[in-house]
Amino acid sequence: MQLSGLLKTNRELSAFADDVREGLSQQGQKQLPCQYFYDDVGSALYEAITVLPEYGLTRADTRLIRRLAPELAERFEVPVAVAELGSGTGAKTWRILESLARRAPVAYYPIDLSASALARCAQEMAAFADVHPIAESYFNGLRQAVCARLPGQSLLVLFLGSTIGNFVRIDAQDFLHQVRACLMPGDALLLGTDLVKPLARLLPAYDDPAGVTAAFNRNLLARINRELDGNFALRNFAHEVRWNRLHRRIEMHLRSLKTQRVSIRAAGFECELRKDETIWTESCHKFHAEEVREMAVAAGFDCPAQWLDETWAFTESLLTA
Ligand code: AVI
Repeated sequence: MQLSGLLKTNRELSAFADDVREGLSQQGQKQLPCQYFYDDVGSALYEAITVLPEYGLTRADTRLIRRLAPELAERFEVPVAVAELGSGTGAKTWRILESLARRAPVAYYPIDLSASALARCAQEMAAFADVHPIAESYFNGLRQAVCARLPGQSLLVLFLGSTIGNFVRIDAQDFLHQVRACLMPGDALLLGTDLVKPLARLLPAYDDPAGVTAAFNRNLLARINRELDGNFALRNFAHEVRWNRLHRRIEMHLRSLKTQRVSIRAAGFECELRKDETIWTESCHKFHAEEVREMAVAAGFDCPAQWLDETWAFTESLLTA
């Protein structure tokens, strides 16, 4: 996941204020962008989500990477450079780096907005690769990695953890096109995607009995209070999770438990929320394995391999340029 960390610069704070103002002043459904979940508190809550018994996604991703790493390494002409979009601390990636490094030294470009996550990543991955952290957005970072790679080096891009599911489908397709445009023949993208599964498994994954995901959701309002001088009363909002069958996605909302007025002083903005009106905070799209292959082909990739977890429907797809 791409972590945004604390918004420190005036430019970042004013972009946050603009996004909040725009999302909450919509005529119809009010919205807040999910990228703002990940301040230090939100990132810690997300880490807790990944170990919840109900949330199988991260464990499936990790199991698959462990399984596929040796085979993946065999598929590449050496030498290889690896660029990871939204690397965080690179916790899952070391197995891939380790397998590749058995054949030849590896250059690793972790790309993330969080400087603290990158610093940890650089420290922990140094045993497996020559690490070049890039504190940038996905595509600025990827372009830097592309420029930095040496002639004759293949590039493997990693986009793990089903972060692509947090984009609306049309943006996910566009994202694949953009990655493809940065790559040369022989390069590849390893893409992790969570798959459609029975609601009895899916709903508790986003509405766990311990309330961790609810806290993660409400922290977005707490962050607005902290950083933009807002006055959301968190107890007046309920965490709500819906399955949208048409779009095959989980939608997270915050439901206003009463009619209330909220002011966000640093955004110069006030708004009214009616009782039962919701703020839509996140979409988590779920895929079919063949749909991932179709999206890949539409973006100009081949898909020579897909690995599927037996326990939690999740797939890792290798997309080659
Ligand atoms: C980061 N992303 C893949 C998570 C997901 O499952 O879509 C974010 C998340 N939201 C609530 N729980 C986890």
